[in-house]
Amino acid sequence: MGLAASLVAAAPSRDGPALTALTWIAPGHERATLLEQPATCLDPAAPGDEVRIGQALFNAPSLLGGQASRASISCASCHSNGRRNPGFFLAGISGEPGTADVSSSFFSLTRADGRFDPKPIPDLALPGKVSRDPTSHALENFLRGLIVEEFSGGEPSAGQLHALASYVRAVRACPSPTELRTLASDLALLRTGIVGGELLLDRGDTKGAQILIKAARFRLGLIDERMIGPKAKGIHSALLDASRQLALVPLQRGQLADWLARFERTVAPQLARNERQSLYEPITLDRWLAARR
Ligand code: HEC
Repeated sequence: MGLAASLVAAAPSRDGPALTALTWIAPGHERATLLEQPATCLDPAAPGDEVRIGQALFNAPSLLGGQASRASISCASCHSNGRRNPGFFLAGISGEPGTADVSSSFFSLTRADGRFDPKPIPDLALPGKVSRDPTSHALENFLRGLIVEEFSGGEPSAGQLHALASYVRAVRACPSPTELRTLASDLALLRTGIVGGELLLDRGDTKGAQILIKAARFRLGLIDERMIGPKAKGIHSALLDASRQLALVPLQRGQLADWLARFERTVAPQLARNERQSLYEPITLDRWLAARR
């Protein structure tokens, strides 16, 4: 498919998706994809800090470059919660829902093969084509190629690749197939991003920390989109304020943690009080989706 055509497909029009995720959700899968995700149980024996940094990067659109990052697509858009998103659909990239052609010129010209051959998105909890053996570095090498060549991302540091690979290796299936996507799960990802950012700063990886700060601001935006109802106006401005402050946090030890502590004290309780009226609430989301049809 041509680059121009896919550009059109990705650009959300003014009356297009008011929830970012709708950009890549197949018609008919909206409710399930917005309210649920595959459940993931992380290997308890995996190295905690690596997995935290890796999970934060996995949810960061700016780890990927070019069109993917502009369309707010991260690894997690396709590999939902490290597993697979059966409702993923991007025109020109997907065939059936849950498939993607990752060698499309939409994402990068380096590996573009000129063929439209979408493949099922694999569940990363299952053994696949790429060896997960930590001694071989096959997974790290694969992920570097994926980020730089398939998704036009910047060169990741060795530490970022190791963390991302550690997260992928830690992803396991759970006894229950799905879990709810709630305000709590978005806030958990926000915290993981901030804690991951602190860890990367400790290691002197400023670029990595900046990717995670952007991801945290992106997460604040996703939370903001879901806040509707009479109290929404005050919440929007509180979130915008928090996001601006986060962009200005000096990249020194402890500053991100301070920002998070302030956020937990001031903004998080406001969000919790509004959750029942928000698009995290199934009944409210149903009404909202019905009104869009
Ligand atoms: C647009 C959707 C999409 C995005 C974004 C995406 N992937 Fe994938 N991923 C796929 C598809 C489709 C395949 C299967 C490709 C194939 O079979 O040739 C795949 C394959 C993989 C595999 C190989 C699994 C195996 O078989 O062993 C890993 C690991 C992986 N992706 C991790 C990631 C990570 C980490 C990111 C972010 C840096 C990412 N993916 C971003 C769709 C995506």
